[in-house]
Amino acid sequence: MPDDKKMPDAVSSSAKTRDQYESYPYPARDPDDEDKRLITGSPGNWDEVVHFVFGGRDPSAKGKIRILVAGGGTGDALVMLAQQARDRKAKAEIVYIDLSESSRAIAEARIKRRNLEKNVTFVTGSFVDLAVEHGPFDYIDCCGVLHHLPDPDAGLRALSDALKPSGGMGLMVYGELGRTGVYHMQEMMERMNAEAGGARRLNFGKALFNSLPGTNWLKRNPFVGDHVHGGDAGFYDLLLHQQDRAYRVDEVFDFTEQAGLRLQNFVEPMRYDPTTYCSRHDVLDRAVHVPFRARAALAELMAGNITKHTFYVVKAKNKVKPPMPSEDAIPFFTRVDGPALARSVAKTGNIKITFTGLAVTRTMPAASPAILSRIDGKRSIGEIYKMFDPKPEKYEFNAQFAVMYSVLSAANIMYLHLPEKK
Ligand SMILES: C[S@@+](CC[C@H](N)C(=O)[O-])C[C@H]1O[C@@H](n2cnc3c(N)ncnc32)[C@H](O)[C@@H]1O
Repeated sequence: MPDDKKMPDAVSSSAKTRDQYESYPYPARDPDDEDKRLITGSPGNWDEVVHFVFGGRDPSAKGKIRILVAGGGTGDALVMLAQQARDRKAKAEIVYIDLSESSRAIAEARIKRRNLEKNVTFVTGSFVDLAVEHGPFDYIDCCGVLHHLPDPDAGLRALSDALKPSGGMGLMVYGELGRTGVYHMQEMMERMNAEAGGARRLNFGKALFNSLPGTNWLKRNPFVGDHVHGGDAGFYDLLLHQQDRAYRVDEVFDFTEQAGLRLQNFVEPMRYDPTTYCSRHDVLDRAVHVPFRARAALAELMAGNITKHTFYVVKAKNKVKPPMPSEDAIPFFTRVDGPALARSVAKTGNIKITFTGLAVTRTMPAASPAILSRIDGKRSIGEIYKMFDPKPEKYEFNAQFAVMYSVLSAANIMYLHLPEKK
């Protein structure tokens, strides 16, 4: 029996969520734009999934993979994954599930525009009830959805049940600290018994927002902007949602573990590392010699700008790890132009990375420009070494590669592919 039938509260919360996304499909997208650009991002970018979920070995190279996009909305992750699968000539079967018919209509139009409909199945309903029926899946993408469920824990357990033992998920849930002010706005709406939904709620919300003084936390928070840049759908989604919660790092770990899952890492990993924010040894001495969970929780408090937690999980028993540099690992760039990065590092000796308003500079090892300029996504680390003339000592090259890779992978700029096992 669907959860909704057992829990009257859940019925009204799910109905409000569905009504919101029927009126304001999110994010606002125009299928005509598919001719101009492909939207890519985290979670779900296939290279990132292979890195975090499959230990650097792409399962789609070997056979058919099954993907679920749970709460697929207007289709960003669906379109990205379907297009990336086609570009790789991978056999992928993708299932999209969403409560909202109008969001689905936009996602379907985007998929048709790219002629990708052959391997995509569209389902209207709740993935909490339907995921297992359509599974099992190698990869599940659930971005910006679980925090809108009446019972997010049950929602994640339902997804976990639909996952193959070797599979994994890319998830995004809201971050509490970076969204300071958002819940003040939602509380004001609640206290004033604001309109229940639709355009009346939107108009009231806008009137309230526009009347707030400059001292209000939302007005002072530069890290959230959907209400300013995301149109009516963005304003509604950020500030007027009636079923919405946010997580601190410790809660993300608990959330993951109660569903029988293991958190592989956050994206970008660097944001969850206290050394990104502080260089004082006396402080770091107490911050870094603690388990991953405690380090990440401290980093969140230090940073203050984490508005959402994007992270990858696998089954608790699955011991897979992201790949580490080795002779036959093949490095490749994501999200950056490699030759341009090589030139910039050659000029400055540094790399500057910006995360939601915070710029972080890292010194790069001396051999970085020479290594970066030889990375083409095909050569292994061993082959790159052989191209050097004169050759540095092997241990020196490996040490420099390792330092460079630790910076770039933590910033989500470079990953490694591993060759297929023979
Ligand atoms: C904020 S949107 C995110 C859309 C998309 N994942 C993205 O990141 O662009 C949330 C979506 O989740 C859907 N949703 C919420 N609860 C759901 C459920 N139980 N089953 C299926 N879809 C759900 C909503 O209809 C909405 O389209």
